Amino acid sequence: MKTPITIRQELPQDHTNVYKLIRAAFASVEESDHSEQDLVERLRHSSSFIPELSLVAETGQGELVGHVLLTRIRIINDAQTFPSLAVAPLSVQPSWQRQGIGSVLIREAHLRAAALGYGSAVLLGHPGYYPRFGYLPAHRFGIRFPFDASADCCMAIELLPDGLKGVQGKVEYDPAFGI
Ligand SMILES: CC(C)(COP(=O)(O)OP(=O)(O)OC[C@H]1O[C@@H](n2cnc3c(N)ncnc32)[C@H](O)[C@@H]1OP(=O)(O)O)[C@@H](O)C(=O)NCCC(=O)NCCS
Repeated sequence: MKTPITIRQELPQDHTNVYKLIRAAFASVEESDHSEQDLVERLRHSSSFIPELSLVAETGQGELVGHVLLTRIRIINDAQTFPSLAVAPLSVQPSWQRQGIGSVLIREAHLRAAALGYGSAVLLGHPGYYPRFGYLPAHRFGIRFPFDASADCCMAIELLPDGLKGVQGKVEYDPAFGI
């Protein structure tokens, strides 16, 4: 890493820079519809938003170079509803990618989510990236997603011991996701 990076909670005065950062991060991502920055704006106004789990990575010079958002979701089946989190999106400024910032953001987000009592998280992501943090294919836990996506891209992780024990069902996202 070029300089020490601090991970901290996003503040209202960061919103404009976070918007630009997310837009830049996804600009050349083929699978993206390039609207992730708007999703974050919507999620901030939704009941799924957890201010403590919208995190930015900041350089010593005060430049925001990364962001991650974890929001509340539910995993539901005919009999039960379980609270969990969705990791979406994760963004690193293109000139700062592949220097460990995404990894630091994810790991810190997991620690903070666990400290808040959240036992698990799910995401749709690249199977070449997220398993290093402990993510497993969600179907191994009996968790399904409400859209068609390659099974190995649909992942889940236990943030607390046995955080997904007995948790089975379909992921229900906040309406802000438009799913
Ligand atoms: C994906 C992203 C968040 C990773 O953050 P980062 O800070 O660049 O990644 P890190 O430095 O922590 O990790 C680098 C490792 O991740 C791998 N990696 C990075 N992006 C990847 C991707 N899209 N798919 C698979 N592997 C990826 C690198 O090959 C590297 O692997 P290595 O350690 O084996 O060499 C960042 O590249 C980014 O913002 N990409 C554009 C937006 C995006 O795709 N977000 C994720 C949506 S699921």
